[in-house]
Amino acid sequence: MTERSEGTIKSSTLGRENAEGGLTAQQAPGVRISGLTVTYNDLPAVRDVSLTLEPGSITGIVGESGSGKSTLALSLLNAVQPPGKIAAGSVEIDGLGNVVEFQGEQLRKARGAKIGYVFQAAQNSLNPLKTVGKQLLDLGRSHSVEDLRGLVREAKELLARMGLDGARVLDSHQHELSGGMRQRVGIMLALVLNAHLVVLDEPTTALDMITQANILKIVREVHAERGLTTLVITHDIGVVAEVADRLAVMYGGRLVEQGPTRDVLAKPSHPYTTGLIRAIPRLVGDLDEARALPGRPPTLATVPKQGCVFRERCALRMDVCDTVDPEAVAHGSRIVACHAVDWAATMKEHA
Ligand SMILES: Nc1ncnc2c1ncn2[C@@H]1O[C@H](COP(=O)(O)OP(=O)(O)OP(=O)(O)O)[C@@H](O)[C@H]1O
Ligand SMILES: [Mg+2]
Repeated sequence: MTERSEGTIKSSTLGRENAEGGLTAQQAPGVRISGLTVTYNDLPAVRDVSLTLEPGSITGIVGESGSGKSTLALSLLNAVQPPGKIAAGSVEIDGLGNVVEFQGEQLRKARGAKIGYVFQAAQNSLNPLKTVGKQLLDLGRSHSVEDLRGLVREAKELLARMGLDGARVLDSHQHELSGGMRQRVGIMLALVLNAHLVVLDEPTTALDMITQANILKIVREVHAERGLTTLVITHDIGVVAEVADRLAVMYGGRLVEQGPTRDVLAKPSHPYTTGLIRAIPRLVGDLDEARALPGRPPTLATVPKQGCVFRERCALRMDVCDTVDPEAVAHGSRIVACHAVDWAATMKEHA
């Protein structure tokens, strides 16, 4: 990972030792996040989150703005900045260890060795004073890449796949590129050095729907070709539906539901997931079918200290929801944190 003070390429990547032959699925690391709590000024933005990224899978994290998605993603690199702090839990990455315990040089190396990251607002994270090509070479040198020509070739190829003129983009400064072009540059920088674990935070927010669909297709292709483990974060459930094998739904810093994407979308268990799916505008059909979820998500200051974080907006609210935080429990193919789902399951068992 390179983080330079004078305007930054915020991208972290693996050295190119595996670039020639491509990567095999075995090299994709598994990631186990357990009991992770992250606070800003002692207020939890991510609370007691456990999530496993299976080697070679694409996992999508979805939730409204402020639900803690970026904070969770930054924890994977132990890159939460003050006043943020990882207050509890662990992030075990195969081949690396628990990155939460890493510091200084160990952390820098770990990031550089394994994780490719597109930061949210990637379009603003380029150095305005240098061309994209110059920043690419800086990135290569900081990871001891010997074959810089090969690196440039790879960058052009990735840009071309995303519908851009690679040579022109590499010759451009940030201000000469549109938001969507910068976003694709961010994706290129995260992929170009062949990281095994790739984290994409809102990779397609600035893009129109057709370009977005094209980029997601490329993300999927590169993921499969290189045998990556990929995490895609988005507030747009349509994006994860396109790309992810597994889906994790966040609300108020909690993971409320996770499971195979197909199952979660076809038959959501948590009332919040149901609300998110209902709110998807459809291209075909009655526009009135898309219904926005009533109410607003909580802020760090208003998130309830006890009981279910979603209860204020929940149609299935019961007394217990006001006092007891529901635990994440396995229900069939999902893990769900909801008293109503637990209750329904219990009723079914005794029927
Ligand atoms: N540096 C910070 N200082 C204080 N609070 C912060 C900071 N960064 C994030 N937060 C708060 O933490 C909560 C989670 O933020 P986060 O950026 O992780 O959410 P998100 O799900 O990524 O949202 P978005 O969809 O808008 O990107 C929010 O309430 C946010 O206001
Ligand atoms: Mg975010």
